[in-house]
Amino acid sequence: MSVVVLISGRGSNMEALLDARLPVSAVISNRSDAKGLAIAAARGVPTAVVEHRMFPTREAFEQALGREIDRFSPRLVALAGFMRILTPAFAGRYAGRMMNIHPSLLPEFPGLHTHERALAAGVKKHGCTVHFVTPELDHGPVVIQAEVPVRPGDTPEALAARVLRQEHLIYPRALRWFLDDRLVIEGDKVRVKGNDAQVLVSSD
Ligand code: GRF
Repeated sequence: MSVVVLISGRGSNMEALLDARLPVSAVISNRSDAKGLAIAAARGVPTAVVEHRMFPTREAFEQALGREIDRFSPRLVALAGFMRILTPAFAGRYAGRMMNIHPSLLPEFPGLHTHERALAAGVKKHGCTVHFVTPELDHGPVVIQAEVPVRPGDTPEALAARVLRQEHLIYPRALRWFLDDRLVIEGDKVRVKGNDAQVLVSSD
């Protein structure tokens, strides 16, 4: 019934998962200086570090990471600000049971610096997406999205903070659906059994 969470930094999404009392059995980081490791440890959650820099290749790093993940036999692997590009082999190893949270309304703005790019593009709405991980970066069947307005005078920081509040709402919800066996992947779409909304519109 458990979830392994992968982080690289601050760990606020990971913390939201813990706050939601999801069954997180371990938090693993590719960086020993990730701030989220201390937050997890303070809450009694086992932590581990698999430093990508210690491995000669991406494949070797992923082998070690996979071994560490599998020690906990998780049902789901949740990427929460995990800043490594994954090989197709690694995505395949956890196909249908690895999710990511991304700070944009995918398919808009995959990749980095989403808030700056959204402001530069002049979009009226922005947001965040939880999706299953597939080999293509920031693609994969969408589980849930939350939209926020872009306000006049927004800075990337202000917009990022508004989006992050929604990330902390939708990621726990997506994981709960998965653990409750309510998600059905149908091609490039995900259906949630029942009547829960898969698009939230925030007026924050
Ligand atoms: C979040 O915006 C997440 O969507 C993105 O990286 C950021 C991680 O923040 N993938 P945190 O480490 O969860 O605080």
